[in-house]
Amino acid sequence: MSETKKPVELGVFLPVGNGGWITSTTSPQLPATYEYNKDVARLAEDMGFDFALSMAKWRGYGGPSKHWDVTLESLTTMAGIAEATSRIGVWGTIHTMIFHPAVVAKMVAVLDQISNGRFGLNLVAGSNPVDQGQMGLWRDLDHAGRYALAEEWITVAKRLWTEDRVDHEGAFYKLEDCMSNPKPRNIPPIICAGTSDSGFRFTIKNCTGSFMLGSNRDDFVKTGLRAKELAAEVGRTDFKTYGLFTIVPGASDKEAEERVDYYNSGVDIEALDNQTREYSSDPSVKQNTMAKRFISQGDARNSMSPAAIIGSPETIARKLADIAINAELDGITVIVPDFIDDLKTIGTTVVEGLHEAGVMTNAYAHQHG
Ligand SMILES: Cc1cc2nc3c(=O)[nH]c(=O)nc-3n(C[C@H](O)[C@H](O)[C@H](O)COP(=O)(O)O)c2cc1C
Repeated sequence: MSETKKPVELGVFLPVGNGGWITSTTSPQLPATYEYNKDVARLAEDMGFDFALSMAKWRGYGGPSKHWDVTLESLTTMAGIAEATSRIGVWGTIHTMIFHPAVVAKMVAVLDQISNGRFGLNLVAGSNPVDQGQMGLWRDLDHAGRYALAEEWITVAKRLWTEDRVDHEGAFYKLEDCMSNPKPRNIPPIICAGTSDSGFRFTIKNCTGSFMLGSNRDDFVKTGLRAKELAAEVGRTDFKTYGLFTIVPGASDKEAEERVDYYNSGVDIEALDNQTREYSSDPSVKQNTMAKRFISQGDARNSMSPAAIIGSPETIARKLADIAINAELDGITVIVPDFIDDLKTIGTTVVEGLHEAGVMTNAYAHQHG
């Protein structure tokens, strides 16, 4: 009798910002180049990953590591990666404050053609006033107002993807007999990572699924279940949840811990301070989950997320499977220190371990015919 396993999509959060997600001078100094990200996406595709996602970021945090002082623009990066791959899902991010929905509606229609229907959109309503403010593109809206704008944005975009001519007069956008062709073959999958009350409400009402973080194992489980519960309350049984995990593998648990200690020895406090200061400058700081996360870490901040999963491939697989099953996650998105060597470990031994621990990935099926 075959035992039932939980199906989980596997994705990679592409390192389009230099240094990736470890804020340190002693971690791998990943280049934020298109070539490197293309190699990572192709490797992920070869191993059977389901999607590659890139973030949208406009300004770095400086410090000795010059953390994220170089970042690739997300949609143009994913257009190239769509052409360079043939099966993996390609997901790009936009800030709703920055781009007019009619501009993105057309970009997405083209991305749909380039990717042959593999494109997905990650929407960011905005949580760092300095990031977009440096260009004069931060809108002076409170937290709820930013999600109101995002809701009008997505309403307009969906209409342009499905209707011949659109008239719209709202609080933020005015369209008169607006035509947008070509159309994508379908409305693309749309994800948002807002996990505040307004963020979740917006996402469940308007999106395919939610990206989420946890500050530890229990927080992950709580956040994942909360999303499913809120979605079920409004009949969204199709709503998907994707966890984001920083993972540091080693040959043994001890070796993995030593890697983390070494990266922490070079922690870039100046860059982390700048990050916290930028998010804290949001007048709606009390509702901004990202700002609250950075502030609450205080002096305990280190080079990587406190929720990082560290250990041998077996340890990682066991911990990831525990969270994925108990949080009822539909997807696991990974961040690693080195997106070539470490990603190979995730795509092979960790995928095997996940299978043994009750989680079925397409990567496993891909590698086992
Ligand atoms: C997986 C994940 C991906 C995210 N990607 C981006 C991004 O690319 N750019 C960005 O400015 N913010 C990004 N964010 C931040 C969120 O979109 C959101 O602004 C933040 O979590 C605050 O949520 P809230 O609005 O519900 O308080 C991301 C967050 C997560 C968890």
